[in-house]
Amino acid sequence: MHILLKIKHKASNKKRLGSIFILKKEIPLGKKFDPGYYCEDDLKDEGFRKLGKNVKIAKNCTIIGANNISIGDNVRIDGFSSIIALGNGYVTIGSFVHIGGYCILTGGEGIIMNDFSGLSHGVQIYSRADDYSGNHLTNPTIPRNYTKINRGTVCLERHVIIGAGSVILPNIAIGEGSAVGALSLVNKNLAPWGIYFGCPARKLKNRSKKLLELEKQLMDELKQ
Ligand SMILES: CC(C)(COP(=O)(O)OP(=O)(O)OC[C@H]1O[C@@H](n2cnc3c(N)ncnc32)[C@H](O)[C@@H]1OP(=O)(O)O)[C@@H](O)C(=O)NCCC(=O)NCCS
Repeated sequence: MHILLKIKHKASNKKRLGSIFILKKEIPLGKKFDPGYYCEDDLKDEGFRKLGKNVKIAKNCTIIGANNISIGDNVRIDGFSSIIALGNGYVTIGSFVHIGGYCILTGGEGIIMNDFSGLSHGVQIYSRADDYSGNHLTNPTIPRNYTKINRGTVCLERHVIIGAGSVILPNIAIGEGSAVGALSLVNKNLAPWGIYFGCPARKLKNRSKKLLELEKQLMDELKQ
């Protein structure tokens, strides 16, 4: 939608005020700070390896290496998140997956998020990280033969949920149905159906499997 704006201007040589009209795009009330989402239609020509149905990606996300990124159905990626899958890297996102705002996924060695998994705000997943031992130089500005990179695919199985502000280091598998509390550091594989938290993440208790019944119920409902 457009509106006509009338503005006054001063004709420089005649010292009088005149009026001109310019066409300005109208911004709906309350939307100035809301960049909104790209949906399937907007994304179909972006070169994703796979793009499912009902996918929404906030317009202020950074997505690098779309040709290495697969996205299933019913996926939402919120604002200021970055997904990077350069070179031989990849990021594979299943269906019914949510990635909250301010998340970072560096998929140089591969990141897999299976169906019904999710990241709360500010989760960072690294499939590559510098060696911090002091035996090597660090950071990407240094020639590779001076550095050592710890590397390995990160895999979140079905129904895994990661709490806000958590960090997952390279080469980690989180078993089906496990949950990780806010502000946790995951530096070892986590077994299925546990609730973990802390730095490093430790098991607090078992997680209920009732959600599997709810998944079945939802799927039956969607088939109708
Ligand atoms: C881990 C978590 C799931 C546990 O919840 P819970 O089962 O209700 O457990 P409780 O709150 O009873 O906590 C049990 C103990 O663990 C501690 N604890 C819980 N979560 C913790 C966390 N993330 N970091 C450190 N300690 C934590 C509690 O303080 C409590 O300790 P205490 O027994 O000494 O008092 C929850 O605390 C959490 O972190 N959820 C993630 C929330 C989130 O990120 N939401 C974002 C929007 S989706």
